[in-house]
Order: sequence, then C-alpha cells, then structure tokens
Amino acid sequence: MQLPTDQNATFDPLSTAFARDPYPDYAALRATGQPVFYAPFDIWLFSRHTDVQAAALNPLSLRSLDHLMTAREMAEERRAQNWHDMPFHSRFVQFSMLNADGEVHQRLRKLVFREFTPGQIERLKSGVESYVGGLFDRLGKRFDFIEDLCAHVPGLAIGRFLGVPDEDCHALRQWSEDIVQYFDIDRTDERKVLAERTTKTFYDYLSDLSNHRRKHPKDDLISRLITRWDAGDLTEDEYVSTCMLILMAGHGSTIDALGNGLNALLRFPDQMARLRNNPQLMPTAIQEMFRYDAPLPFFHRYASDDMTVNGWDIPKGTKIGLLYASANRDPEAFLDADRFDIGRAPNRHLAFAAGPHFCLGNHLARMNMEAVFSQLLIRFGHIDMTAEPEFKSGLSLRGPKSLHIAVR
Ligand code: HEM
Repeated sequence: MQLPTDQNATFDPLSTAFARDPYPDYAALRATGQPVFYAPFDIWLFSRHTDVQAAALNPLSLRSLDHLMTAREMAEERRAQNWHDMPFHSRFVQFSMLNADGEVHQRLRKLVFREFTPGQIERLKSGVESYVGGLFDRLGKRFDFIEDLCAHVPGLAIGRFLGVPDEDCHALRQWSEDIVQYFDIDRTDERKVLAERTTKTFYDYLSDLSNHRRKHPKDDLISRLITRWDAGDLTEDEYVSTCMLILMAGHGSTIDALGNGLNALLRFPDQMARLRNNPQLMPTAIQEMFRYDAPLPFFHRYASDDMTVNGWDIPKGTKIGLLYASANRDPEAFLDADRFDIGRAPNRHLAFAAGPHFCLGNHLARMNMEAVFSQLLIRFGHIDMTAEPEFKSGLSLRGPKSLHIAVR
C-alpha cells in the first residue's frame, strides 16, 4: 500500500492543551488507521501499537542516514545544523550508541550490556533504598514531589552505576538537564550555548576521574570501560559518549516516570488503595505507570532503503516517528486502554521501545521507582494533590514540571 497523500496531522504538540493531555490527539491519529504526515517535522507518524512495533523492529529502520551520505554531504549536513558551533556536544552527544546503527551500535551496546542485567542492578538496590529513605526523612507535610524528592533520586544510582564518587553525584542532575536541553523543539540560542558549555564541563570532569581510575581502578563501569578503551575495543570519544549517554538517558526520564506514576495513582484512587493493600503488585504497577504515561513518548527512525511496514510501502529516506505513548493507549493492543490498572498482565507496552535500541536502563529505572513508591505508600496513609500540575510541552518528553502534594 502507498502511504496516503490526504492525511496531514494538524495537532499542535507545543500547545498547552497537548501538554496537559496529549491522549485525545493520539487517539485521533490512531483513528485514521494509517500513518499520518506531520509537515513541521517532515515526518510520517506511526501511532498504532502494531505499526510502531513493526517499524521499530524492521531491520531497515535506522536512527541515522549517515551511511547513505558521502563525506562531503555529511559535512554539509552538519554545517547546516551548526554542529561546528558545538564541537563538544556534537562529538560526545550526537555520536552516541543511541544514534549509531549496525555493527558500530552492536559493538558499543555489547560493551555495556552486561552492566545493566538485573543481577548487576540488584547490587545498587539497598544503597538506593536507604538514600531514598533519607530524602523522605527531610520532607514536611506539604511538598513538591518532583523538586523536593524525585529530582534527587536518579543521581545517586547513576553515579554509583558509573563510578562517580557520591559527593559529586548532586552535580549530575544539572549537567544532564543542561546537555539534554539542546534537543528541545523550542530550544533557544542560550540553551544551545549552555548545552555545549556543560558538555565540556562533564568532559573535563570525566577526564580527571578517568586519569585517576586508570591508576586506581575500582569495581565500577568507568574502570571497566577504561580497560576496554586501553585494549582498543572503543575510542576515547566512544568512551566519553557512552558515559554521557548513560548520564542523560537515565536522569530526566526517571524523574518524569516518577511524576507520571504518582499523577496516575492520584487520578485513580481505587488503584492507589489497591496497591497499598497489595504491595506485591508493585512490579506490575510500575510497568503500568510506564504504559499509562510514557516519559519518552516519541523517537524517530529513517528508512535506510525501500521497506514495508505492516503493508505500508515506505520509500528510502523517509523519516518515521514512533509514537510510543500512543501505541501504549491503543485499544487494539490493550483492554480498556485508558484505564490505569496496576495489575495489568500481560503488559506489552513500548515505553522502553522495541528492537535494537530497546532501553538498556529499564531495570535500573524500575528499581528507582520501587524504592520511591514502596516507601511513599508505607510512610503516608493519605496523599492529596494540592495544585493541578503543569506538564512539559512538546512531543519528546512527558512529565509534570511540579507535583504539589499534602501527606498524612
Ligand atoms: C526511566 C525511564 C526510562 C525510559 C522511559 C526510557 C526509555 C528509553 C527508550 C524509549 C529508548 C529507545 C530510544 C529509541 O527508540 O531510539 C531508550 C534507550 C536507552 N536508554 Fe532508556 N529509558 C529510561 C531510563 C533509562 C535509564 C535509567 C538508563 C541508564 C542509566 C537508560 C539508558 C538507555 C540507553 C543507554 C539507551 C540506548 C540504547 C541503544 O541505543 O541501544 N534509560 N530508553
């Protein structure tokens, strides 16, 4: 089947209405039953679960089209995107595993894959639980769940995972926020400058730490990656960009996942009560939080050759938008899809993607979530929202900017 010529998405992902509740727009996209063209991004949006999954799994759908370009075209493209203005950001952030394909991607992913297994993550668990307990101890009866609690959660786990000393972990959140801001659709020039400057700051910090670890190795990811770098298994740039990717991919997404999770529990008090009475449902509850309101709702791919996705003919070079958040609410894939059901099983959500780029950090993210939600429900018998939260705008991120609550 040819892609339809008469379908143009008219929604406005930068609007406050979309930020407040994007799900009616996603439902409208799904109701067309087709991929829909969105002119401002020059992209074909896939919104149904079956299409998003098939597009993500298709071996011809890639993160970049670099392999189709000559060196000259690539240089021109990068000039057009002003990458020369951002030497550190383009060197370490744009060229990460997340943006690599094929053999390079497989090699980089394989280097760290074992670090992310449930067994490895389990080793961090008790430290994270007692750290989160300490954060709870400092809270009063009314607080902002995002700023006063969640914002401090992922830094410690990511820092310990990498091998950053505990006393430096507090800096990781700001660094990751500054670096990620470059990807906002509505980024300003100041943010771009900030992203570049902070990338350099992190590079300098990591270089000092790496020099130290090379002389005094520890049982941590940084020390193990340095050994692989010295053995020629990865370059210095690949080493730095892998550390930066782990820092960035896991930070804001975890904060947003925690905020979206509590927001869902507050909007479905029957499910909050059910979880309180059945703490053994925590693992399925957390999976449902990811399905119900995905922190990373959208990623793109390119058709590296003419390809077919669920019967749709996608010409080589087409940019494809994978709407994971929309797929997760598709009634064709989930019974009563708009209902938040903490016991839902099976739950084949796509919040962590599918295919070669499936999220490496999913166990770590879930461990952080469990540490927060189990303590939240034990400590407080009543949790009330005291102000309607405002959500981040855009297609790429989903999470409340603040979530004010009163607890008893
Ligand atoms: C908390 C919620 C999280 C969500 C919703 C999430 C979601 C995702 C998604 C959707 C992708 C695939 C992007 C694509 O389709 O191209 C991805 C990739 C990735 N994530 Fe996560 N992530 C989360 C947390 C984390 C954490 C805590 C870490 C590590 C500390 C992490 C590390 C990564 C890495 C390294 C990749 C790249 C994998 C690859 O390219 O092969 N993520 N994540």
